[in-house]
Order: sequence, then C-alpha cells, then structure tokens
Amino acid sequence: MIDRILNRVRRTLNGPEPWEGIPTMLHPNELRNLHHRASKVQGIGQIVDLGTWLGGSTAAMASGLSRASNAVDKGVRVHAFDQFLVDEFSKKNKMIPEIQSLEIGDSFLPVFRKHLSKWPSMVEVHEGDAGSKKWTHGPIELMHIDVMKSWELAEHVHAEFFPMLIPGKSVIIHQDYAHYWTAWIHPLMFRLRGHFEPMGLVEDSTSFMFRLKTAIPPELLRPQNGASGFALEEVDEAFEWSRDLIAPRSMHRSCVDAAWSMYYYHLGDTTKAMDIYRKAKVEEDQRLKEFPGTRRSELHQMERLLGVAG
Ligand SMILES: C[S@@+](CC[C@H](N)C(=O)[O-])C[C@H]1O[C@@H](n2cnc3c(N)ncnc32)[C@H](O)[C@@H]1O
Repeated sequence: MIDRILNRVRRTLNGPEPWEGIPTMLHPNELRNLHHRASKVQGIGQIVDLGTWLGGSTAAMASGLSRASNAVDKGVRVHAFDQFLVDEFSKKNKMIPEIQSLEIGDSFLPVFRKHLSKWPSMVEVHEGDAGSKKWTHGPIELMHIDVMKSWELAEHVHAEFFPMLIPGKSVIIHQDYAHYWTAWIHPLMFRLRGHFEPMGLVEDSTSFMFRLKTAIPPELLRPQNGASGFALEEVDEAFEWSRDLIAPRSMHRSCVDAAWSMYYYHLGDTTKAMDIYRKAKVEEDQRLKEFPGTRRSELHQMERLLGVAG
C-alpha cells in the first residue's frame, strides 16, 4: 500500500519511467535497481539479462546503460537471453493483448523487439534455450538472473557465465532468491559463499544481490549433477545461511523457508518438507503478531502443495 503511494508520488514528480508500459513480472523497485546499476557500469564487462520475457528487465537496464556513454563506447551491450516462446502463463494473461493473437509455442520475439525499440543499439538478443547457450562475449560486469527455473539451468549458468564475472567488481542479481520454487539456488550459492559479498535484497522484492569478491575456482562451478551432488547436512546449512542474510522482520526470510521446505518436496520427502513448513509457520505467525501490517510469505504455496488446511 505505502509502496503504491510512493510509486505514484515518484511518478508525479519524475514522470513515467522509460520502460513504463512494457509488461513485466518484476516489482518497480527491481526495475529501478536494474536501471540504476546499469547506469553505473564502468564498461569493464558486458551486461547480461538471463530470462527477459517481454523485455521489462532488459528495458530497465538498456535505459540505464544509455546513460553510461563511456561503457557504450567501449562496446557494452545488454545481452538478453530467452527462448521467447509463448507459454500457458503468458497466454492466460489477458493484460498482454499482443500475446493473445499468438498460440502456445509461437515466438514472441517480435513483441520483445517492439518493446525495446527505444534502445535498438543497446541490446543484443540471444534466442533459444539458455541451458545450452555458450557465452563468448568476454567479462560480465552486471548480471540479472531470472532463468534458474531448474537444477540444469542453474548449473549451466554457473558453469558458463559465472567464470566471466570480474573479482571485486561484478554484481549478480538473483531474481528468484526469495521464490519458493527455485530451491537449488541456495545450496549452489552456499558453496560459493566465500567468494561473494552479500549485498542484500532489493526492497520489497525477491531479488537478492551479491558482489564477486574473489575468483571462483573452476571446480566449484562444474555441474554437480543436481541434488545428488549435495549432502542433506550441507543443504540445511545452506538454507540457514541464506535465511540469515535476510532481516528477521522481512517476510522474504519466510519465503526462503518456503524454498527450504520445497527443496525436500522436490526430493519427494514430504515429511521433512512438512517439518520445515511447520517450524517456519510458527516463526511467520510470530512475526505477523510482532509487526502487524507486514505481509504473508510464500509459505502459503507450501500449504497448497502439502495439503495443509488453511
Ligand atoms: C520470470 S520470466 C522473466 C521476467 C522478466 N525478467 C521481466 O522483467 O518481466 C522467466 C523467463 O525465463 C524464460 N525461460 C525459461 N526457461 C528458459 C530456458 N530454458 N531458456 C531460455 N529462457 C527460458 C521464460 O521464457 C521467461 O520469459
């Protein structure tokens, strides 16, 4: 509510954001953060947007990059990756009229291009399965990751893109950090924790930022074969670490708990998933009592999956 009022005030004072009108799954704070970070790049590496959908995240970064003329002159572009295929979710969304005339499986790349037409020279499109893409454009200074939708995709991003991050400089933004489904992000980042400095959540969103401190040894970035590469003790330690990166009064801490429960649900261990859910729910109820007005987390998704009566 307060957020909506603030956004309205900001809009009245500053006028519409350059990316306004482009459909997006991101919170306005996430888009502003992407814009800000892209406007501050030094030009020592490229900008990567993994999972752009209809172009919201890419537009915010392209608009930021257009203010960093030094970086543009050095050849920095926003590299937008997506398969650009209409899925059921996009098709069902009646708010996107351009998609309604397309069928599931059709390409929406022309729609993306239209949305990005204000910044034609800032963007390079990489169409296709990100899980089989090779990165051949050198160092990466800024990377927005919104494509870690499976173990395979997440491990591919680690193996293919993380080696090109620049120690002491590069920032990565994990859009799905506080999302219940993408549980693999936590054990994967935990293994790299000695090399990253946590920078915190983008306010009111699921995005968490890290800066690379030191070069990552290649063996830590090789695919580990999904969950089979992680002992459960390490997984639990990983989630304890991840949740501690988030303030106790933030509902996003409970979202990480939801991902922790989901990790076991993905493994088929609903007993352990339920144990984690129950403990997290007690904590969430306590938080809601202590800080009335704070929002409920994605634990409700686990309620649905685990069949907990509401
Ligand atoms: C959550 S959406 C991205 C939202 C976007 N960043 C925005 O600003 O609205 C995730 C995107 O990942 C893409 N995606 C999922 N799996 C993919 C894959 N294997 N390869 C390429 N793109 C993929 C989907 O097509 C979808 O557009």
